[in-house]
Amino acid sequence: MRMYDLIMKKRNGGVLSKEEIDFMIKGYTCGEIPDYQMSAMMMAIYFVGMNEEETLFLTMAMAKSGEMLDLSGISGVKVDKHSTGGVGDKTSLALTPMVSACGVKIAKMSGRGLGHTGGTIDKLESFPGFSTDITVQEFEKNVNEIGIAIIGQTKELAPADKKLYALRDVTATVDNMSLIASSIMSKKLAAGADAIVLDVKTGSGAFMKREEDAFALAKEMVSLGKNARRNTIAVISDMDQPLGRAIGNAMEVREAIETLNGKGPEDFTKLCMTLGTMMLLAGGVCQTQEEAEQKLQEVIQNGSALQKLAQEKMALEAQLVKAQGGDESAVFHPEKLPKASIVETICADKDGYVQKIVCDEAGVASLLLGGGRETKESRIDLSVGILLHKKVGDAVKKGEVLAELHANDAAKLALAKERLLAAYHIGTEKREEGPVIIGILK
Ligand code: URA
Repeated sequence: MRMYDLIMKKRNGGVLSKEEIDFMIKGYTCGEIPDYQMSAMMMAIYFVGMNEEETLFLTMAMAKSGEMLDLSGISGVKVDKHSTGGVGDKTSLALTPMVSACGVKIAKMSGRGLGHTGGTIDKLESFPGFSTDITVQEFEKNVNEIGIAIIGQTKELAPADKKLYALRDVTATVDNMSLIASSIMSKKLAAGADAIVLDVKTGSGAFMKREEDAFALAKEMVSLGKNARRNTIAVISDMDQPLGRAIGNAMEVREAIETLNGKGPEDFTKLCMTLGTMMLLAGGVCQTQEEAEQKLQEVIQNGSALQKLAQEKMALEAQLVKAQGGDESAVFHPEKLPKASIVETICADKDGYVQKIVCDEAGVASLLLGGGRETKESRIDLSVGILLHKKVGDAVKKGEVLAELHANDAAKLALAKERLLAAYHIGTEKREEGPVIIGILK
């Protein structure tokens, strides 16, 4: 078999067999197939697509490219969560300790920034010393002992996704349904959790811009999960404007910590509550939605009656950070997180209401500041990012601040400012924000 022939077959609209997909994934994982041939294949798949059977074969080949963890020796239902990617999407940072504090074991496998979106692993690395590059043994031990662990793709776990993910990030081949479904589900199946809760984003900041495509992706992933006998639930949520107010790695960590202190933005808190409810139900620690919501409220509220739980929950996040080599004191002192040296604002040029923030453009603005990768070798700047003062539906006066940009480089700042300003649409009519939760598929 030759990779050249497979690229040609797909390019010409052909359907790849299981043997061909296995050959391609094995060859790429062990380095026999070079990046340039795989890039051509990804682009061919991007344009031609894959059918359901090909997507299943691709997912299983990627999942089996390394170890498939068996966590059955750890008591209780182990739950994993994954987002299809968005702008300002720091959900895992707040949600996983919340759910863990409620007694569900979290065994999560995450990724880095992808395209215009940020990644949980990059964000967590804002904690000085934090590493998701832990061994499979450490991952299992942490799930067992502290009830929470987050690992990245490694040489042992989903190595094919590790390589493909980095390649797709810089070759404009992210937003294809089969490639997203196989990337996410291969990680979820390899990491061994019993239940998987998916956050499928839709809107201008998502890879699936149209609602019907997001539902189709959700359906595909739920079916891949069920096929592997994992309880899989998908929540379809809005990404038509950035989630919360912070965009950028360390800045999002700060917002997640604020949310754990009960002071999070409304849209972000609502999303955490919905996904958290699904995770508590899937984890079997609650029997009804009301009970789950109440438990989660207890964990996020900042009232004095709930101080004990708040402490407990803070300790859990600190445990996650500490257990994975990070400086856990930054959880209690977010001022220790990386900070950019220049802060500038963009302002409204007229009175009116924010009607739209073109969400992927806001993500690109953060990337231009240095918060994302231009090439596979790029190092990202964890400290840079954006803080939105105004969101959709907010009234603004001419000259009022719309957003802050945190930067370390004046030239990058100039580019990002222009991009972010163009992303804001201000008009005379008030436009209501849409709902955060669009649907749930089981
Ligand atoms: N998240 C992933 O892990 N993979 C994708 O392809 C998109 C989002």
